[in-house]
Amino acid sequence: MQTIQSLHRKNIPITMLTAHDFPSAALASAAGMDLILVGDSLAMVSLGMPDTSEVTLDDMILHARAVSRAAGRSFTIGDLPMGCYEVSPEEALKSAIRMVKEGRMQSVKLEGGIEVADTIKKITRAGIPVCGHIGLTPQRQHALGGFRVQGKTAGAAQKLLNDARAVQDAGAFAVVLECIPPEIASILTSKLSIPTIGIGAGNGCSGQVLVQMDMLGCRPAGSFLPKFVKRYGDVWERSLVAVEQYRDEVKARSYPAEQHNYAVDKAVVEAFRSTADGSNGVQ
Ligand code: KIV
Repeated sequence: MQTIQSLHRKNIPITMLTAHDFPSAALASAAGMDLILVGDSLAMVSLGMPDTSEVTLDDMILHARAVSRAAGRSFTIGDLPMGCYEVSPEEALKSAIRMVKEGRMQSVKLEGGIEVADTIKKITRAGIPVCGHIGLTPQRQHALGGFRVQGKTAGAAQKLLNDARAVQDAGAFAVVLECIPPEIASILTSKLSIPTIGIGAGNGCSGQVLVQMDMLGCRPAGSFLPKFVKRYGDVWERSLVAVEQYRDEVKARSYPAEQHNYAVDKAVVEAFRSTADGSNGVQ
C-alpha cells in the first residue's frame, strides 16, 4: 500500500488489473501491475453468471486464494460481493476478515458512498485496508436503472463528490470511479487526497483498472464490451485457431508425433506383445 501512496504522491499513474485465478494473476504480476483486483466481475467473466448478484463470498475467496499464490509484488484487493457487507458494519468486518484470512488478500473493495462510510470505518479500524467504488456500482444496477453513465448532471456530480469524500474520510486508501464523464472524474480526483482508479472515467484519474479478460480480447466473438474497454490482445481468436488445429491433428492422427512420445526398449515391447497375445484379457 505504501507503493500506491508513493506513486500517487509522485503523480505517477497507478495500474490495476483484475485477475480471477493463478495464471491471470501470474500474468498481471509479471507485467508489473501495481494492484491486482479479484473483482466480482468473476461472476460474468469466469463463471458465466448473468450479473454479479449471484456470486458468493465463498466463490470469491476460492478465486482470491488462487490469485494470492501468483500475485508476487502486486498489492491485492478482494472484492466483497453483494450480500456480505450491507446488513451491518459488523457483518462486513467478518466478511473482510474472511477475505484476508482465507482469501489471502491484502485489502478489500466494496461498492457505495455515504451509506457505506460506517462500514469502511469499521473495516479499516480493524487494520484491513479498503478500496471504495463509486459511480456505476454494478451490484446496485437495479437501483441505478441499469448500466448507465453516472454524474451527468451538476447535482449528480455533486453527489459523487459527497460520496467520494465520505469514502475517503472513512479511511479508504483509494476509490474506483466507474463510468463517469472524464471532466467530472478529473474534478473529483483533484478534490481528493486519496488516489482515484478510473474505469470508463477518462485519463484524469490517478490510475486505471480494466477487466483482464476484456482487455485481452478473451471473449467469444460478438460478446458485448463496454465502450471504455480497449482490446489490447486477441486471445480468443488466437486460442480458437490453436484449439481447432489440435482438433484437426487429433482427427488426422498427426498429433501426437514422434517428438511427443516416450521411448521404450524394443525388447520390452516384443516381450510384452507375446505375453499380451497369450493372455485372454482376464487379470
Ligand atoms: O468486479 C470488477 O472487476 C470491478 C472492476 C471493474 C472495477 O469491480
